[in-house]
Amino acid sequence: ASAPLIDPFARPITYLRVSVTDRCDFRCVYCMAEHMQFLPKAELLTLEELDRLCSAFVGLGVRKLRITGGEPLVRRGIMGFFRQMSRHLGSGLEELTLTTNGSQLGRFAGELVDCGVQRVNVSLDTLQADKFASITRWGRLPQVLDGIAAAKAAGLRIKINVVALKGVNDDELFDLVRWCGDEGFDLTFIEVMPMGDLGNENRLDQYWPLNDLRKQLAERFTLIDLAERTGGPARYVRLQETGQKIGFITPLTHNFCESCNRVRLTCTGELYMCLGQEDRADLRAPLRASEDDQPLRHAIRAAIAHKPKGHDFDYSRQSVSGQMPRHMSHTGG
Ligand code: GTP
Ligand code: 5AD
Ligand code: SF4
Repeated sequence: ASAPLIDPFARPITYLRVSVTDRCDFRCVYCMAEHMQFLPKAELLTLEELDRLCSAFVGLGVRKLRITGGEPLVRRGIMGFFRQMSRHLGSGLEELTLTTNGSQLGRFAGELVDCGVQRVNVSLDTLQADKFASITRWGRLPQVLDGIAAAKAAGLRIKINVVALKGVNDDELFDLVRWCGDEGFDLTFIEVMPMGDLGNENRLDQYWPLNDLRKQLAERFTLIDLAERTGGPARYVRLQETGQKIGFITPLTHNFCESCNRVRLTCTGELYMCLGQEDRADLRAPLRASEDDQPLRHAIRAAIAHKPKGHDFDYSRQSVSGQMPRHMSHTGG
């Protein structure tokens, strides 16, 4: 076979995040503008093309595939794509998973399990219906809670992703911890990253550093640092009193770029080398130029050879620096 993908900083690239659509049925304030201009459908790679691309990555040593969006489950025919990807499980691919807003899980949870998906990450920042509506603009909390319940009933392991927002959900820290504990869900808190047009909702005002959150947790629980990693960016602690595992994703207070193992494929076939940098390569041209995968594999290797060292997000000054004009929904987080 072929040599694995190693970037210029000796990091093996084994995790591919794939955004299968830029569309979403929600409009979370930190992710999208209220009126988004979406890509014309003709610009999207077909699911067959996405299959060829992802399969090429698996052939080059990718072990973990995370399907994202936008909201991945709103792309038509997406279950067929999951089914195609599941053929790689056990022959190279170790994990097939997704990050979802949960709205469609009621419909798809069972099929996902059939496709070999074992766990899902669900974005849920609050357990209060009115607050949920104001964060997601278009979302309805009961639909998401029903989706999560369906996923649980189908046997999926669930991780809840909470974007930590000062003045928004900082009052719910212990409610979220308790709810996840009762339900048996893992929980990860994420520092809000400065992406998209910030407009007049000032991301700096809402920035809630996870150091603070951790301190609050430590006042009530004994935190045991865990060495284990899921192959994602989170660091974990265990609450001694409840046995619960809690993750922290801290791109701003504790940059984890040195152990980065991932790249991101957009629904138009661009490969972004870093969430917080513009470096990218077009894979659609080599994909369409030939039915042979050789030029594609070559383009992937050439792209990885230019993966940057890390992002420059920074809230430490008076204003936000390192801001990305690109919306989070473009690369799928
Ligand atoms: P696990 O497999 O459960 O560890 O998932 P994950 O954390 O890799 O994926 P998920 O889609 O749940 O992402 C959670 C958050 O981590 C999102 O806000 C992502 O934007 C963020 N994230 C993932 N990878 C990176 C990265 O390389 N850099 C930065 N800054 N953030 C990342
Ligand atoms: N900062 C941090 N996380 C974000 N997400 C979306 N936008 C941002 C942002 N600006 C999260 C979503 C989802 C994950 C893929 O990314 O809540 O859990
Ligand atoms: Fe949709 Fe997720 Fe972005 Fe919210 S964060 S708008 S649910 S893609």
